[in-house]
Amino acid sequence: MKVLTINILTIFPGIFESFLKYGMVRRALENELLNVIIHNIRDSAHDRHKTVDDAPYGGGSGMIMKPDILAESLKSTLPFKENRKPPVIFLTPQGKLFDQSCANRLSMMDEFILVCGRYRAVDERFRELFVTEEISIGDYVLSGGEPAATVIIDAVSRLIPGVLHDFESGIEDSYQNSFLDCPWYTRPEIFEGISVPEILLSGNHKNIKKWRYEQSMKRTLDRRPDLFEGSKKM
Ligand code: 6GU
Repeated sequence: MKVLTINILTIFPGIFESFLKYGMVRRALENELLNVIIHNIRDSAHDRHKTVDDAPYGGGSGMIMKPDILAESLKSTLPFKENRKPPVIFLTPQGKLFDQSCANRLSMMDEFILVCGRYRAVDERFRELFVTEEISIGDYVLSGGEPAATVIIDAVSRLIPGVLHDFESGIEDSYQNSFLDCPWYTRPEIFEGISVPEILLSGNHKNIKKWRYEQSMKRTLDRRPDLFEGSKKM
């Protein structure tokens, strides 16, 4: 079985603690299909105050993450120590928008490194010299890359072969990933006066499949018509 190893560089390792303990991500880690190694960037700072940031040249407000500390932290990861050249992914709103096809691509890798920035910015020379790819999870500003890293790890880990059970993987629904899901119902049959659609109680599996497909298409057309324009991204 393939194992995906993700090294994360962060100044807030604690953010990942509970996240890694639940659901699919936990299952992937327990089954040794996924390996996540957290590095505290501050461990690579050697001055008395463990400084990881400094004021920007040219003035301006906010602090900039130091390139030397980030580089040292990166070089402390196993892939770098063993002289491999893993993808180094910097999380930033300036990056390429993360989507399902990007998740698929990352899930097929053996290893990659996620760099979580904080403060106003990361020194541009670190990006030039070490970053091979930049990813954004949407058009809004987060105060750091950590929430984005958890989003990426969640989306990616469930795609690693062996993580999802058959019933979760949606192999029988080939349209699942490119279109929005149909409505689903469970007991009770009547809730607050609203009945479950008749057809779902019919036992006619061919008709149910057709209904679900139509609902999925209708919902996609209503809410996300852009998804019909195909996979333009990546
Ligand atoms: Cl990846 N990082 C930060 N700091 N903000 C973001 C983002 C990433 N994606 C959207 N906003």
